[in-house]
Amino acid sequence: MQTEALALLARAGVRVSPAALASRRLAVEAEDGDYRFIFVKPADVPVYVEHGIADCGVVGRDVLLETGADVLQPLDLKIGCCRLAVAAKEGASGARAGVLHVATKYPRVAAAHFGSRGVPVEIIELSGSVELAPVLGLADCIVDLVETGRTLAENGLAVVETIADSTARLVVNRASYQLKAPAVAALIEALSEAVKTVNRKS
Ligand code: PRP
Repeated sequence: MQTEALALLARAGVRVSPAALASRRLAVEAEDGDYRFIFVKPADVPVYVEHGIADCGVVGRDVLLETGADVLQPLDLKIGCCRLAVAAKEGASGARAGVLHVATKYPRVAAAHFGSRGVPVEIIELSGSVELAPVLGLADCIVDLVETGRTLAENGLAVVETIADSTARLVVNRASYQLKAPAVAALIEALSEAVKTVNRKS
């Protein structure tokens, strides 16, 4: 998503030099010097924005649903389109007695989803390669991101149901939205135009 997000930002007039991107520096200045970028893991984006270390961030809706971060979400960037879904071994029977074992990187989303249906679950939290869990018998099903569906298919899994669609969102710190209103509004406006242009072309 980073490449797509940087392309959208460049279209909105906020550019990072190729040299800065090629470096291992985690905080770099934009070419015009008006913005400073920090590069962090997806789950950490709302943390930096909620604490006001970053005024704005780009992060998937999946992460926002999981973290429940208290940030503003003024713009859908319409990139990084995917869905959060329940998946299980192809042909696995849906009906089973007892506790459903669910492996996931999204424990809160998974617990809320099955909780709302009154399905008793044991959530097994993993940090990646979640698709392995049903294959190796660690879990009955998974809750994970599905983009092309290739990882599921190549591991003999299939989507059982979609929990939520996800795209990248521009998120803004609540205080920055007020205190830096002109700059934040200008960025939202420029990005909004960039999103429209990209989507008109495709
Ligand atoms: C994500 C997700 C799936 C995969 C889905 O994993 O967790 O594993 O992408 O993509 P697909 O539907 O196009 O196959 P990620 O690349 O973030 O790696 P991870 O498994 O290490 O979390």
